[in-house]
Amino acid sequence: MGDTNSTSGAKIPNHVAIIMDGNGRWAQSRGLPRLAGHRAGTENLRRIITASVEFGIKYLTIYAFSTENWGRPKDEVQGLMHILEDVIDKELKELHKEGVQLRHIGRLERLGPKLHKKVLNAIELTKENDRLVLNVAFNYGGRDEIVCAIQKMIQAGVKPEEVDIALVDNYLFTSGTPDPDLIIRTSGELRVSNFLIWQSAYSEWYVTPTYWPDFNKEHYRRALDAYAQRDRRFGSLSQNP
Ligand code: IPE
Ligand code: IPE
Ligand code: MG
Repeated sequence: MGDTNSTSGAKIPNHVAIIMDGNGRWAQSRGLPRLAGHRAGTENLRRIITASVEFGIKYLTIYAFSTENWGRPKDEVQGLMHILEDVIDKELKELHKEGVQLRHIGRLERLGPKLHKKVLNAIELTKENDRLVLNVAFNYGGRDEIVCAIQKMIQAGVKPEEVDIALVDNYLFTSGTPDPDLIIRTSGELRVSNFLIWQSAYSEWYVTPTYWPDFNKEHYRRALDAYAQRDRRFGSLSQNP
């Protein structure tokens, strides 16, 4: 044991994506309002970012707000917008110092001009950092991403015979980011919920019943250990027969 940052397997995923689910139930189980769960979830995110750097993960994508989450009560939606703004205000300096490069996937337009600008400033400030790329999926939906890619391809006058997998990749919000190796979903739900539906074609899944605010470094290490045991075949035959 000794080194608390090591995982038992040598195979560390290059790109981890997390569906940070269960904030509401975490709060409800404590008799707290749902927004208290989102706050606790955000504090946890800070810890998981640091752990990701320590584990040697290069890309971390977090699902923070889906295109379907607009359907929630107005005060919850507004609370989530405030939390994003707060995180940028309070954490950006420290994240920058840690060498985290911030990126965003999804559509920023609907966030309002002030928040939109804050996100763009954060991306600009951190663009040269290279310890960890943190992709924040906010107002993100996998179907919306594909619709957006098709619109951009048509606008650019792409010819049908030019369309292939690599070209589609280039038109997605995640252009330039490798596909996720491991997708973690907290709170036990066995569904995709419109997350990285194109990019997850060959991702490994890890679902834990733990609610997101309780998902700590030890749980994270267990997910990475489980990943290290997987035999990824990509439709071919095992490399380790
Ligand atoms: C995930 O937690 C965070 C967001 C979707 C914004 P939820 O808010 O979905 O929590 P549950 O699933 O209701 O417990
Ligand atoms: C997925 O969780 C979205 C985020 C974690 C941001 P949801 O709670 O919105 O998903 P469903 O409704 O359970 O499918
Ligand atoms: Mg949920």
